[in-house]
Amino acid sequence: MNEKEKYSISPTGEKFPLPDPEDYKQEFETLEKRVNQEREKGREIVVVMGVGFVGAVMAAIIADSTDEKGNPSKFVIGMQRPSVRSFWKIPLLNKGISPVKAEDPEVDPMISRCVKDKQTLIATYTYDVLSLADIVVIDVQCDYLKEDLGNVRTGRTEMAALESSFGIIAEHIRPEALVLIETTVAPGTTEQVAYPIMKKIFKNRGIESEPLLAHSYERVMPGRNYVASIRDFWRVCSGINEEAKTRVVKFLNEVLNTEKYPLTVMDKPIESETAKIVENSYRATILAFLDEWSLFAERNGVDIIKVIKAIKVRPTHSNIIFPGPGIGGYCLPKDGGLGVWSYKHILGFEDDIFKITPLAIDINDTRGVHAAQLTRDALRNMGQPIAAAEILVLGAAYREDVGDTRYSGSEIIIRKLAEMGAEIRVHDPYIDHWWEFEKQDSYPGVGESKSRFFRNQEKLAEISVQNDLNAALKDVEAVIFAVRHEPYLDLQPDDVIKAIGHRAAIIDCFGILSDEKIHRYFELGCEVKGLGRGHIQRIKEKVRRL
Ligand SMILES: NC(=O)c1ccc[n+]([C@@H]2O[C@H](COP(=O)([O-])OP(=O)(O)OC[C@H]3O[C@@H](n4cnc5c(N)ncnc54)[C@H](O)[C@@H]3O)[C@@H](O)[C@H]2O)c1
Repeated sequence: MNEKEKYSISPTGEKFPLPDPEDYKQEFETLEKRVNQEREKGREIVVVMGVGFVGAVMAAIIADSTDEKGNPSKFVIGMQRPSVRSFWKIPLLNKGISPVKAEDPEVDPMISRCVKDKQTLIATYTYDVLSLADIVVIDVQCDYLKEDLGNVRTGRTEMAALESSFGIIAEHIRPEALVLIETTVAPGTTEQVAYPIMKKIFKNRGIESEPLLAHSYERVMPGRNYVASIRDFWRVCSGINEEAKTRVVKFLNEVLNTEKYPLTVMDKPIESETAKIVENSYRATILAFLDEWSLFAERNGVDIIKVIKAIKVRPTHSNIIFPGPGIGGYCLPKDGGLGVWSYKHILGFEDDIFKITPLAIDINDTRGVHAAQLTRDALRNMGQPIAAAEILVLGAAYREDVGDTRYSGSEIIIRKLAEMGAEIRVHDPYIDHWWEFEKQDSYPGVGESKSRFFRNQEKLAEISVQNDLNAALKDVEAVIFAVRHEPYLDLQPDDVIKAIGHRAAIIDCFGILSDEKIHRYFELGCEVKGLGRGHIQRIKEKVRRL
C-alpha cells in the first residue's frame, strides 16, 4: 500500500487513516456491545448499506423516527466500505456531521440530532455488523457504464458490486432479517439475481428458510427538499413473498410519513423495479422531446420558453419542461439503460422493442454539445475565433441550487469547448471541487471519464471552481448561463459587463434572460444566443435599428 492509499480524504480536505486488519475485531466487539444495549431498550437494529447521497439521509430518517409514544424504536448503523474514496464518510457521520453537502436545512441538524442527542445513529466499516441486523437497507449504487457518447445501447449495467453485496449480506445476516433493496436496479434483479445468490448461500449455511427480500425505490431529490423527498413522499414497494411484503410494509409505515403519503404495494418486486425505471424513462422522454422543438424554435424566430409557458397553463400539460443544456443527476441518464439492458441480459429476450427510451437518453446526453456550438457561433459573429477564447461557464451542477455535478450538462459543454480550443473558467456557488475534471483520470472510475469522447482534454484537470463571481467574470470573452442557480437569475447586464470590463458573447442555456436583459446586452455591444430562443434575432435587429 502506498502512502496515498492509507488515507481517505474528505471533500473539505480532512485526512482519515483507513482501518488496519486488526481494527476490525475491536470494531465489531464495540458494535455488538452497543447493539445489545439498544436491543434491551426494545429497539430494532437497522443496517443501512452505503451512506452516500441516499443512504446517509435515509439512515438519519430511520434513526429519527419514533413509535406512537414518541420514543425512538430503531437503532441505525450506517455501513460503508472502507475505500479510499468513501471511508471518510464513516468518521464524519460518527461525529454527527453529514457526509453529503445539502441545501436542505433539515439535513445537518437531523444527522447531528440522531448521532449526538438521540444516539440512534452510528456508522461503521465492517460487514460483520450485518450479523446484528433485524433489517438491512441497501443503498449502494448500481451504475450503468456507457461505451459511447450518445449511444446508451452499447453500455452495460455494473452488476458485479451489487452481486457481491448480495453475497456478503447472505453470508452474514440472520435468516429472519429483512433485506430491503432501495438501489435502483435493472428490473428482475431482486427475484432473478439477488434471490438465487442469497438462497444458495443460505443453503450452504444450512438455512432452510427463504431470504426475506423486498424492493422499494427512492424518489429522493437532492436540494432544498432533500429530507421531505424521502420521508414525506409516496413510496412503491413489494416483497419476494407474503412475509417479506408484510415486513417491508410494516417497516416503511414505521419510518416514513405514510399516513399522508400512502404506500403502493405491488404484487412482485419486478413490478416495483419496473415502476422506478418507467417513472424515470418517462421523465427523460418528456425532456428529450423538447430538444427538436428547441432547435426548430432557434431556426424560426420562436422563443421556446414562451411557447412552454403558453402550453403549461393547460392543466393536462403542466409538466412540460425545458431541458436546458442536458439532463444530469445520477438517475435520469442511466435508469432507462438499466431497463433496456435487463430485457436482454436478465430476462433473456433478443428482440429490440425499445425505441423511445434509449433515444431519449441519447438526446439528453448530447444536448450540451449544441450549447458549445452556439457559443462558437456567438463569438464568430463578434469576429472572434473560439480557439483560445476565455469562456466562463456559470453553473457546474446538474440542476439549480444543488451541489451535485453528476452527469451535468455543463460537463459536456466544457469538454466540447475545450476540444475547439477554448480556455475554460467555471463558477458555481454550491460547488468547491468538480471531480469529473479534477480527477478525470480516475473519476467516476478509471477509463470511465467522459474525457475519452473528446480530444484536447488534458488541461481540464486544472479546472478549479470559483465562488467569487466578479473575479470569475473579469476579462472573459464569453459567459454561458448553464444552470438556473438563484444568484444568476437577477444578474443585471450592466453589472456583468462592468465586471468583465468589455463586451462579450452571452449564451443563455436555460431561459434565464428576460427580453429586456437580452435587449440591454445588445445595447452594450454584446452578442447573445440561447438554446431554443429564436426570437433573439428580432431583438438584435430592433437594437440595431435604434
Ligand atoms: N442520488 C439521487 O438523487 C437518487 C435518487 C433516486 C434513487 N437513487 C438511487 O439510489 C441508489 C444510491 O444512490 P446514491 O446517489 O446514494 O449513490 P452514492 O454513490 O452517493 O452512494 C452509494 C454509497 O454506497 C457505498 N457502497 C458501495 N458499495 C458498497 C458495499 N458493498 N458496501 C457498503 N457500501 C458500499 C459507496 O461507497 C457510496 O458511499 C442508486 O441506485 C440510485 O440510482 C439516487
